[in-house]
Amino acid sequence: MKTDQGCVVWLTGISGAGKSTIAEAIAGALRNTGKPVFPVDGDDLRGGLSSDLSFTAADRLENMRRAAELAHMASKCGLVTVVSLISPSAQGRQMVRELVRHGRFALVYVKTPIEVAESRDVKGLYKKARAGLIANFTGIGSDYEAPGNSEIVIDTTTTTPDAAAALITTYLQGKGWVS
Ligand code: ADX
Repeated sequence: MKTDQGCVVWLTGISGAGKSTIAEAIAGALRNTGKPVFPVDGDDLRGGLSSDLSFTAADRLENMRRAAELAHMASKCGLVTVVSLISPSAQGRQMVRELVRHGRFALVYVKTPIEVAESRDVKGLYKKARAGLIANFTGIGSDYEAPGNSEIVIDTTTTTPDAAAALITTYLQGKGWVS
């Protein structure tokens, strides 16, 4: 493998599942490998590149498409690009897998029961969604299709963020995408 090649780690899961926390832990785990890590976070995208998009199924697909193209470009430049996006639909996840044309792509299902995410409610969004203040909230007004074809499943009820990062790093090393 050429050492300047990056890859894409795509974290999918409901809001509050722990995607961004695991992304940070991956950055920490890879800090000493010499591979730069580029985090692409849903909340950041929606504050900028995707600020024109809503949470309809069509706009979520467009959000995923933009993130995938960005991840494809960044990973071609050698970055381990860690995308944290709910990415609720199997159709969308298949699309992003195909958009990462070099194929160095790992889908990671960050699996957290909605009761757990809702009890954490870090951003207070579940409360608002239950009160009817957020339309199409994933898991409440809009479906999350659990992936059946992810490369890695992280059960956050039994796996710490650092343990998740170690599992993911080991997978990437096994593929020869990081050393
Ligand atoms: S995705 O479905 O298009 O992949 P994305 O990951 O970008 O979602 O954005 C999710 C973030 O937007 C959540 O973490 C939450 O903070 C916020 N958000 C606002 N409205 C919604 C909604 N209707 N459903 C889910 N998340 C929402």
